[in-house]
Amino acid sequence: MKVTVLGAAGGIGQALALLLKTTLPAGSALSLYDIAPVTPGVAADLSHIPTDVSVVGFGGEDPTAALQGADIVLISAGVARKPGMDRADLFNVNAGIVKNLIEKVAATCPKACIGIITNPVNTTVPIAAEVLKKAGVYDKNKLFGITTLDVIRAETFISAAKGISLADIKVPVIGGHSGVTILPLLSQVAGASFTDEEVEKMTHRIQNAGTEVVEAKAGGGSATLSMGQAACRFALSLVKALSGEKDVIEYTYVDGGSEHAQFFAQPVLLGKNGVEKVLPYGKLSAFEQKALDSMLDTLQGDIKIGVEFVK
Ligand code: NAD
Ligand code: LMR
Repeated sequence: MKVTVLGAAGGIGQALALLLKTTLPAGSALSLYDIAPVTPGVAADLSHIPTDVSVVGFGGEDPTAALQGADIVLISAGVARKPGMDRADLFNVNAGIVKNLIEKVAATCPKACIGIITNPVNTTVPIAAEVLKKAGVYDKNKLFGITTLDVIRAETFISAAKGISLADIKVPVIGGHSGVTILPLLSQVAGASFTDEEVEKMTHRIQNAGTEVVEAKAGGGSATLSMGQAACRFALSLVKALSGEKDVIEYTYVDGGSEHAQFFAQPVLLGKNGVEKVLPYGKLSAFEQKALDSMLDTLQGDIKIGVEFVK
């Protein structure tokens, strides 16, 4: 299995590359690309860690060499938020970066599964889809917006608040990846009950968790280490599923025929060819149904901006 990380010299890229170097199955290959000239050095540094995962790094303007033969491409290239910014404020810079990189993916490894981390995810994933369509290589089962950070945050916060073991807790998070489009389904958390006030507070905390980190880093960027962990979890699930393991499920933002929007985050059964089946997200509480109904204009608007950007 060859995994390529684009944006590999950045805060997320380096954390993710380290985690992949130490957890990918023996015999895997890790390929790193970033416009930053330090990237071959990041690969050299990682290559001294004694695991049976090969690692190479490429800098410069062209990611083609890094993409050759990739089974999975993870994209974290782009700029991150500073305090006072919304994820949508990153669109002007990151839309073009994602578009250019996906054009290279389409030309070099069109059958690879692609995981998009670069914000605004609600919009960069539709951009990727449109670019792949234009190139005639779009397979909706192989394009994912990585929303795993919302899931691990929700699990961490609720485990601490309700005293549920981290090993046991599961929290569904559906919708998209920004503000009100992040919808944790607290009514489905086994072994926990919440008052109305707790539901409101916890939902807001999970929706606002990215901003919490942006403010705490005070101009030094957004979540990198927890995102590295989240992306690694998602990538390892994908590796398992592509290798034939059964029953691998992750919440992820996909073009999965949702009744709500062209792209929607929900549980997805992963398989040998990417998405095997988009699963139902179950019954919603009245609070969750209202939150879902009121997020849809925002989510659909975010998607439209991405589609129109490429068209
Ligand atoms: P960073 O600034 O630390 O790293 C970004 C890297 O991208 C840099 O090394 C830069 O050189 C590289 N880059 C820029 N343009 C490039 C190009 N054309 N080709 C290759 N590399 C390029 O930022 P970060 O903290 O790693 O965040 C990266 C992105 O991930 C941001 O857009 C951020 O908002 C997003 N993010 C998403 C999630 C999520 O849950 N999906 C979570 C955290 C951050
Ligand atoms: C996050 O959720 O931490 C990321 O989307 C980064 C951000 O800008 O909040």
